[in-house]
Amino acid sequence: MEFSKKLQQLPPQFFAALLNKVNAAVAEGRDVINLGQGNPDQPTPAHIVEALQMAATDPQTHKYSPFRGIAELKQAAADFYKREYNVEIDPHTEVAILGGTKIGLVELPLALLNPGDYMLLPDPGYPDYLSGVALAEVKFDTMPLKAESQFLPDYGDLADEVKQRAKLMYLNYPNNPTGGVATKEFFEQTVQMAKENHIAVAHDFAYGAIGFDGERPPSFLQAPGAKEVGIELYTLSKSYNMAGWRIGFAVGNAKMVEAINIIQDHLFCSQFPAIQHAAAIALNEEQTCVEEVRDLYERRRNVLVEEAQKIGWHITAPKGSFFAWLPVPTPYTSEQFADLLLEKADIAVAAGNGFGEYGEGYIRVGLLVDEERLHEAMQRVAKLGLFTEMLSK
Ligand SMILES: Cc1ncc(COP(=O)(O)O)c(C=O)c1O
Repeated sequence: MEFSKKLQQLPPQFFAALLNKVNAAVAEGRDVINLGQGNPDQPTPAHIVEALQMAATDPQTHKYSPFRGIAELKQAAADFYKREYNVEIDPHTEVAILGGTKIGLVELPLALLNPGDYMLLPDPGYPDYLSGVALAEVKFDTMPLKAESQFLPDYGDLADEVKQRAKLMYLNYPNNPTGGVATKEFFEQTVQMAKENHIAVAHDFAYGAIGFDGERPPSFLQAPGAKEVGIELYTLSKSYNMAGWRIGFAVGNAKMVEAINIIQDHLFCSQFPAIQHAAAIALNEEQTCVEEVRDLYERRRNVLVEEAQKIGWHITAPKGSFFAWLPVPTPYTSEQFADLLLEKADIAVAAGNGFGEYGEGYIRVGLLVDEERLHEAMQRVAKLGLFTEMLSK
């Protein structure tokens, strides 16, 4: 049996190869420190799990959900945006419930673009954006994210033709993989650029709760006029350690929300109502669990940065997300260096080129193991003697 052309066009999962290598090393009995993935290592807070347990005993939750999700969760999403960001959201027309934001990000090009249309993607960027590109048979231009611009795209550097032909653009701050955080001014520029060029904006706010050094990452929707041009996608996967639950939502521009809802009417019957109820509890109730999540990653970040400094690896401290974006020493490419770390130090990291052309020269480290393991990882790197030359300079 042959797969459809569309299926054959889908990009290979770049990180599946990494996972295979890690699994092979673990099967050999090696003690691999896995810094390659993006899966939160802590459990979901108990009050959210209890809310699910209770809701799952209510037969009402065993029925089909309303197609577009339960009213309680849409209201909770609107209240959350008002409370946390002072952004007004109409729960009826400006919220789409998603079975994880990855789904919304893949659906959007299908919902808004025609084959051959262009979208704008960050480079480096979250690889799953390319799944939507392939499924919708659209084209894309990239916006380079460079260290010297704090990993924010410079709209002045984009060719007019590129801006004019783009119909949809994705942004993601705090950023995976670079750890960059956007400013309010940058989001204001984005609204202006989007208005001038008639581009719909989708801001992927997956790491919205994870900002360091006392800085709160801004929401795109806080920029005046943002709702006229775009939406924000918010997941519960990271803020509440709910990655396996598959729940998130899109908020903002009513037209874009409606487009997502229409496509979802044909694909899903929303999410298990008990999960939606527990997600509403997560958004509504005390948020100290979110502060704890952020503080944990900040402590880990500090260990990583301090230890790297000690061994002579000059890295920039990420300002948010749970990733650090580390420069690769010469003469290695990203992939060579990632392979070397796995082979010689039993450390798994994601090679930067897997996130795009501008990821070359970097590796991504996930702050998803405890402080001792991060410390040990740096000790193992030190033993490779790669940075001693830099240290003695
Ligand atoms: C940048 C970014 N966006 C979106 C997602 C998807 O999150 P979810 O589908 O769990 O809501 C992830 C997950 O790793 C991510 O890193």
